[in-house]
Amino acid sequence: MPKRYLVTAALPYSNGRLHVGHIAGAYVPADIYVRYLRASGAEVRFICGSDDNGAAIEISAMQEGRSPQEICTQFHLRQKADFESLSIDFDIYGGTHQPEYREMHEQFSQEFFRRIHEKGYFSKRRTKQLYDPVAQRFLPDRYVRGKCHYSDCGAPGATGDQCDTCGRMIDPLLLIEPVSVITPGQRAEVRETVHWYLKLNDLEQPLQNWLETKRGQWRVAPLNFALGQIKQGLPERAMTRDISWGIPVPLDDPDAHGKVLFVWFDAPIGYVSFTAAHCAKADGDWRAYEKWWADPETCIVHFIGEDNTVFHSLTWPAMMMADGRYQLPSFVVVNNFLNFRVNEEFVKISKSSTPADSPVWVQEYVKHHDADALRYYLTAIAPETARTAFDEKSFAARNDNELVAALGNFINRGLSFASKYLNNAVPGSAAQSEADREIVAKADAALQAVAGHIERHAFRAALEEMMAFARVCNEYFGKREPWKTRKTDPPACEATIATCVHLCQYLAVMMYPFLPNSAAKLRRTLRWSDGPVRWVAPEPLPAGHEIETPQVLFRMIQTREGAKE
Ligand code: MF3
Ligand code: ZN
Repeated sequence: MPKRYLVTAALPYSNGRLHVGHIAGAYVPADIYVRYLRASGAEVRFICGSDDNGAAIEISAMQEGRSPQEICTQFHLRQKADFESLSIDFDIYGGTHQPEYREMHEQFSQEFFRRIHEKGYFSKRRTKQLYDPVAQRFLPDRYVRGKCHYSDCGAPGATGDQCDTCGRMIDPLLLIEPVSVITPGQRAEVRETVHWYLKLNDLEQPLQNWLETKRGQWRVAPLNFALGQIKQGLPERAMTRDISWGIPVPLDDPDAHGKVLFVWFDAPIGYVSFTAAHCAKADGDWRAYEKWWADPETCIVHFIGEDNTVFHSLTWPAMMMADGRYQLPSFVVVNNFLNFRVNEEFVKISKSSTPADSPVWVQEYVKHHDADALRYYLTAIAPETARTAFDEKSFAARNDNELVAALGNFINRGLSFASKYLNNAVPGSAAQSEADREIVAKADAALQAVAGHIERHAFRAALEEMMAFARVCNEYFGKREPWKTRKTDPPACEATIATCVHLCQYLAVMMYPFLPNSAAKLRRTLRWSDGPVRWVAPEPLPAGHEIETPQVLFRMIQTREGAKE
């Protein structure tokens, strides 16, 4: 296992609130991974921030009659608070157009652009672009909507940059029935303009060679998707735009005047510029970012949702190859979309169709439930290989039947017993039997198995492994019947409870990546070390060690709802 990791989670557009789909797609898995890596002793930086530039923000601002800066700062703060409320702990939460980060980000982005330009990987081309004659402006990216032009798709609602139904990049000029987003119903026209295109076609071979080395390491579908795109041929892609909100194109060329960088050009550079901003704060030297980006000892891992696949597995690596200074990502971990299940139907979560007070919005969710319950559910249904759906009923059921009835129950049974009958202290373990040694061996095996799954980004399997172990712990407790041996064989009873406390220590370690708040609570109850969690088989707390009276770790949801009725 490498010793140093730079982990990123996709920079959310700062023009709306976060919902459970975002959280399941990139942030909870990345946070689990980072917590695990840290507990295993690796040096890690966890980087995120808001994607503030580009058409998406400009359009939202226009629709709300406010400035792009106001919009992106408002939602930057909202999203930052949303992440904190779910205990998603970035080392830095930057923003590509936030006052604190803008300058550094602009410098990094412009330098990147200039270098690629100098190395000859851009072609300047006079091209045709969609244009809104009423608003008198060009319609790049999300400014235009129409039907997907791929004959095997044809889905409505594709935007000028991509089709969310089939995941492919869109050539806006081929979009079927293109309509302006600014002037309702206005059919887009074609006008001439000048742009700088990244010669993706020149990089097809190196991209393919690089991706081929990822077989067996990356998830199969996104890897095949990226390789398939190369097989079909990668078209050149414009990296500049005719809009006003963004980073000015840094060229001494009258044709570049008034143009900005394509948001998908500058956004991934945010990973780098925010790392530098973090180094400036933490190490007092922004240049220390090179240790994370240019040193092959660092393993770079990007967590993203499926709609970002093209940009992270092809465009961004191509930019890095053209630039030549940085290492390519070791892993791009892609999750599918998480939909919302309403009356047996899977619907997309969106500002326009999902009620504003629905618990799928993070801000609403945390008003009613605990962060760990959501982290649990979103990992249990993680869309790792296919789309899944958030379902309020199954959320409550899985919380109650699994978190409460299996994991919480075992912890509570063991610790309450110690609290009630053994003076809130760890009893002696002299009478430990084969059964006790066996369950501790199973704990060691579970600890290793969970680690193996997390290292392979199989978070759902890792969680299942932990829960299977919790069930085995319950069986153990049932078989050992301490409530009987308390009278018939006190040493055996004590040994059982000492083992239970030890098992709770194992669980506190295993829970930490998935359920950090509950893990911390459990450690407090055990009065077990304030230091950082370490992913090693825990030394059993000694006989006589006092613990706190256990509190409820996980709350029921169904009965609480029922009680209200
Ligand atoms: N803002 C994009 C989205 O929400 C993700 C950008 S990820 C980065 O789909 F690479 F550009 F940072
Ligand atoms: Zn499509």
